[in-house]
Amino acid sequence: MLRHQINPGLELRLLQPTDAPTLFALVDANRKTLREWLPWVDATTKLAHSQNFIAEALRDRAATRAFAAGIWSSGQLVGVIWHNHIDWANRVAFPAYWLVPEAQGRGIMAAACQAVIAHAFTQLRVDRVIVAVATENHRAAALVKRLGFTQISTLKKAEWLYDHFVDHHIYQRLNPAAPPRA
Ligand SMILES: CC(C)(COP(=O)(O)OP(=O)(O)OC[C@H]1O[C@@H](n2cnc3c(N)ncnc32)[C@H](O)[C@@H]1OP(=O)(O)O)[C@@H](O)C(=O)NCCC(=O)NCCS
Repeated sequence: MLRHQINPGLELRLLQPTDAPTLFALVDANRKTLREWLPWVDATTKLAHSQNFIAEALRDRAATRAFAAGIWSSGQLVGVIWHNHIDWANRVAFPAYWLVPEAQGRGIMAAACQAVIAHAFTQLRVDRVIVAVATENHRAAALVKRLGFTQISTLKKAEWLYDHFVDHHIYQRLNPAAPPRA
């Protein structure tokens, strides 16, 4: 996915090295809210960290087709959606995503996720998409439920968030075109 226009004001575009200053400024301006659920925020302290994130995503894309796309609303970068990992042997994609607070509450991430999931099912041809959501992250849980995901399990102490563990609910959405599993 190089570039995908969702509607006239909303676009997903593969992050490029030239986007690093914009990405770093966005994280830096929103670190207090982003760090509530995202474990990498405190480690993102300088431009080089955003440059590395983009460089690694571009390398992953070349190697495995996992990608990181900026979410651009009315021409402004407002968040990122990417595949943390694609398990090709088992045909599973593990997307991750965030939006700055100003861009939340407008259905932007729902539309971005729909596009990335449709791409994963039809272009990458994965059989399922799995998302782990901290049990107290109610906005993220509402989003996956709106997107038709089903909760399949819970992991206790699944993620260390700076100074405490959080539990995760694991949600999946199956590709309707995937062969049935016995
Ligand atoms: C999780 C996160 C992406 C959800 O963002 P969001 O804006 O709530 O998600 P959506 O795009 O689904 O928007 C839903 C809201 O937009 C509203 N909305 C407006 N138009 C809409 C539309 N066309 N379609 C869907 N929702 C719409 C909904 O009513 C809902 O409003 P509410 O917040 O008042 O209930 C965001 O909270 C975030 O980035 N959190 C921090 C990082 C994080 O937790 N990432 C996920 C880890 S699993």
